[in-house]
Parts: sequence; structure tokens; C-alpha cells
Amino acid sequence: MMREGGIKRRCTIETHDNPSAVPDFKRLFTPLKIGRMELKNRIVFPAIDFFSCWGELIADNLKHYLLARAQGGTGLIMMAITSLARLTLPLESKGVDRCIKELSKLTDAIHAEGAAAGMQIHHEGAQNDEPVPGLKFDPVGPSPIRPPWGKGAVPRELSLWEIEELIDRHVLVNSYIKRAGFDLVEVKACHGYLFNSFLSPLTNKREDEYGCDLRGRTRS
Ligand SMILES: Cc1cc2nc3c(=O)[nH]c(=O)nc-3n(C[C@H](O)[C@H](O)[C@H](O)COP(=O)(O)O)c2cc1C
Repeated sequence: MMREGGIKRRCTIETHDNPSAVPDFKRLFTPLKIGRMELKNRIVFPAIDFFSCWGELIADNLKHYLLARAQGGTGLIMMAITSLARLTLPLESKGVDRCIKELSKLTDAIHAEGAAAGMQIHHEGAQNDEPVPGLKFDPVGPSPIRPPWGKGAVPRELSLWEIEELIDRHVLVNSYIKRAGFDLVEVKACHGYLFNSFLSPLTNKREDEYGCDLRGRTRS
């Protein structure tokens, strides 16, 4: 493609300029380095929540489903959302080691196919209103403002102590994920979940170190 000034630039995907153009996927099957990890190709199976993992042992049909994607040649298999709010308590009561052992079998099998495995984590924040038997969670957020995205209630403002506690929980959950053999963690920070609510100036009106400006809103 010739640009002003005579500089020749090659555009691999031209669908914005020309919707009928066929995208050039020639890098799709080449390795991709992310930090210290290298994916064998750039095909990612995204996180899709089947409500059948963690808390309870991972369901056999989910294991087969994910493994089939690895056997088909996918470079990275993501496992869907692991709730920070709900996860640690059910896990502790039901046996962290048992869950980690089950998940390790899956990550081992994915690795044996040459694929990487990732786990997605989130916190429901203002949408934290679905009852879990025996456990009570209330909608929470950086400020008592209902996120304009997705469903959700007016959340209770988290105290500084609760934020610190959540950060500790985050570290704990990540250590479980690492022990289970996952190669990466993806943070789900969209449509009104807690991380999204902290990041946005529309829902984060805090005046302490977790608000005020971009630095505060992105602090972790
Ligand atoms: C049933 C279902 C559950 C999903 N769960 C998640 C999820 O847990 N986390 C996430 O980030 N995206 C989730 N998604 C979004 C998918 O990852 C999304 O559809 C995909 O990235 C878009 O791919 P597509 O354009 O090929 O449909 C879900 C989608 C569906 C249909």
C-alpha cells in the first residue's frame, strides 16, 4: 500500500479499508512469545464459562471439550472465569489439593499436546448477587455507584481493609492456579465487574490511594 510521502507499507489485514479483502493469516501458525512463554501458534480458544469448574471438581465433559481443542492444534487454551469472590472459600472447604490435582491432570494433558493453558479470574463486584449455598456475598465496588454496564446493583463501598484482603486473596488464587500447572492468568475486567469498576472514573470516586486519578484507579 503506497502512503503519502512514498513510504511503502504492507498491511496484513485490510478489512477496515476494504471489507471484501481476504485477511492475510500467514502469521497465524507462527510462534508467539508472551513474556517468557512461547505459544506454538496464535490460535487461542477463549474463556467460555460452562459453570462446571472450580468450587466443585472439574466436570469430565469440560475436560474432554478443552482437551479436544488442544488436540486440534490450538496454541493456547483459556479456562473460564474463576471468581475471586467465591473461589477461595469453597476451595478451602472442599479441599484445595484435590481441585489442584484434578486441574493438573488437565493442564498436563493440554501441555502434552504442545498447547499452553491459561486461567481467567474475575470478581463480580456490583454483580455479586447470585446466591451460593451456605455463603453470603454482597454487591461491592470502589464507590456506591451502579456500573452503567451489564446487570448489577448499587454496590457497597469496599473499605481499605477489604481491598487489602482482596489483594491477598488474589495472590492466593494465583498461587493455586500456578500449582495447577497453568501458564498464565487472564484478568477479566469488563462490563461492570470489580476490576472494571475500579478502573473507570465513572464508578470509582474514591479519594484514597485506590481512587483519585489513573494511578490510584489502576493500583494493585
Ligand atoms: C456461553 C458463553 C460463555 C462465555 N464465558 C466467557 C467467560 O467466562 N469469559 C470471557 O472472557 N468471555 C466469555 N464469553 C465470551 C467468549 O469468549 C466470546 O464469545 C469470544 O471471545 C468471542 O469469540 P467469537 O467472536 O468467535 O464468538 C462467553 C461466551 C459464551 C457464548
